[in-house]
Amino acid sequence: MSANLLTQISSNINTALILHRELADCFWFVYLPGYAMFQEYQYIAESIEQRKLKRYIGSTYGIYIPDTLSDSAEIANHLIGNKNRNQLSSEETQDIIKKCFAAHRDWETNSIQKYQKISLQLFDSVDISSFNFISSLIDDVKKELTFVTDKIIELNCIKFDMPQIVSEQDIWVERYEYLIKDILGKSEKYHHYNSNVDPDSRTTIFNKASN
Ligand SMILES: [Fe+2]
Repeated sequence: MSANLLTQISSNINTALILHRELADCFWFVYLPGYAMFQEYQYIAESIEQRKLKRYIGSTYGIYIPDTLSDSAEIANHLIGNKNRNQLSSEETQDIIKKCFAAHRDWETNSIQKYQKISLQLFDSVDISSFNFISSLIDDVKKELTFVTDKIIELNCIKFDMPQIVSEQDIWVERYEYLIKDILGKSEKYHHYNSNVDPDSRTTIFNKASN
């Protein structure tokens, strides 16, 4: 039962990956590279989390349950549709930014609610190890949600002023380029040194994601 509950979370993260990919597509479309890099970072970080969760399910419960996979997050197609990026007005760009940030906030809000309900069931069935695993995931989603909510408040304050939005892109590119490199980790020469320990400890790139 716990394995099924955790697989529901894994499937939700798979849809989250599509969401972040589509949001990145939208921000590249309107050429806001900083916001696009933020979405690329979330895509990579959450992909690593999803793989870690799947390994945890297998190693804890000894079974394999396939994920439910969605085709689309229904965002990019709706927002971009038949638009041509060479003919976008400032208002159209603003509208895309607004809707992307709102979609991101709504997604994380729903995800937290889902994960909390599942973690309560894990707790009730005294599966404390999995409860703890999911608690740390909930912490990550909460941080992401707070960041996005604060950003929306800031953007509302400046009335989605395009010159200000454009001028902060370089700072965001630098920040997320750094974080992407950081999350992937550096190559280490002697991986086989660790060959006697558990699968997570044998890698550096996956473990980095939980820090
Ligand atoms: Fe996310």
